[in-house]
This record gives sequence, C-alpha cells and structure tokens, in this order.
Amino acid sequence: MRKPIIAGNWKMYKTIAEALEFVQAFRPLVVASTHCEIVIAPPFTAIKSVAARLDGSNIDIAAQDVAAEPGPGAFTGEVSASMIKDAGARWTIIGHSERRQFYGETDDSVNARIRAALVAGLSPILCVGERLEDRDAGRAEEVVEAQLSAGMRNLTASEASRIIIAYEPVWAIGTGRTATPETAQQMHAFIRSGIRRMFGEGVAEETRLLYGGSVKPDNIATLMSQPDIDGALVGGASLEAGSFASIVNYKEKR
Ligand code: 13P
Repeated sequence: MRKPIIAGNWKMYKTIAEALEFVQAFRPLVVASTHCEIVIAPPFTAIKSVAARLDGSNIDIAAQDVAAEPGPGAFTGEVSASMIKDAGARWTIIGHSERRQFYGETDDSVNARIRAALVAGLSPILCVGERLEDRDAGRAEEVVEAQLSAGMRNLTASEASRIIIAYEPVWAIGTGRTATPETAQQMHAFIRSGIRRMFGEGVAEETRLLYGGSVKPDNIATLMSQPDIDGALVGGASLEAGSFASIVNYKEKR
C-alpha cells in the first residue's frame, strides 16, 4: 500500500513570523491525521524556524529547490542539499514548472539536482507536467515522458524508489482550472507505466504519484479516489491553515 502524501508548496510566500503563525494554527488541525504523510515547503528563509517548531510532530519539511552541486563551493546564491538537511528539511521539490519556465531549469539540471538530493539523504519530489500548447497539440504524454526519463536518467532502481513524482500540468497551476480526475488519473497511469519500464514492477508499484494544479478542499476527495493518485502538491490552498487542513483531512469518495 502506498501511503498518501499531502504536500504544500508555499512558493515565495510567508515571512518567518507568518510561517510560524500558520504552523500554530495548522498543527492541532492535523494532529490525528495518520492516514497520510504531511509535508510543507516553506521558502528557504523559514525552513529552520518551521522545522524547529514542528520537531516531533507528524509534519515534515521540504525545500522548494536544491543546488545541483553537492558543495560546499563557490556557487553564489545556491543552497546545497546538505544545508537544507541541516536546516531541518527531509524533502525537496525539484523541477517545478515555475523553475523550468522562469529560471532556465532543464531536464539535465533536474537530473543533477536529484542526484545531489539523494546523496545528501533528501527525498526528491520531481515535478513534471505539460503546457497547454503541448496538450492542445496532443503531445502531453510525450512531454511528460521526456521529462521523466531525462530527470531520472542513470538512476538505479533503489535510487528511483526514493523519488516521489508530482504531475502538475502547467495549465492547471494557479488558474483554478483543475485537471479532471479522469485526465489526472490517465496521466498518472501513464507515468507509472513509464517507471515500470525504466525500473521494474516493484518500483512502479511503490512510487507515490502526486497531483498538483488548483487542488482545493472541494476537489481533493475525488482526485484521491483515483487508483494512481497517491497524494497532492498544493500551492495556493496550502497558504491558509484551515484550507490546507481540510485538504489533508479529505475523505475519499469511492
Ligand atoms: P496551485 O495549487 O496554486 O495551483 O499550485 C500548484 C503548484 O504549483 C504546487 O507546486
């Protein structure tokens, strides 16, 4: 059984004070939530404070990106995987579409970041997803397949088994336009078959596939009822404690 993961990506939101205020309100709302793993990805500046406050809780911390170089070294502005771990995070998002779109992230740099994260003992959340023009041109699967195989290139099956994949169609991010559960399920099944081809049945069955893109309290249950959707990566709706807690505490509708 794959244990679901509900992860919140705060993007470039929240000062340290705001992050701690969130945590204070959020923690009691999910204290009994053992059905899933709960992860929050604050901005780098708030990781240490949030991690310290959540020590011993059922909420884990992720970074939103990680340097491709293991370091230490002369890489101004970069934050290494071991620094992220040192600050108290256990996970890191890699290859988010906003990094690909606005900051020149490529499949090669994604692959390097995944390696750096794995070496340091962080769990990578690898983001893939097509743009609207790809989908309209009937190339959604081709694009996702290319991101997946290049991002996971030259990994062993045991390394691959430590990776979580987030399918985030670019046209659904921050737009209020969620992929239908059927569209998301179809792509998740496709991704799982790609993992099966690359790393075998065992890894494919174990790998958790998260959906991201306008996930809200009112659509999480239907998304989670799909057989290949094992969790969610939530942007906007993870910024407010009550709304993120209702996503965490979804009840599957079968
Ligand atoms: P929204 O939930 O705001 O659409 O963002 C999704 C996302 O990009 C999570 O990484």
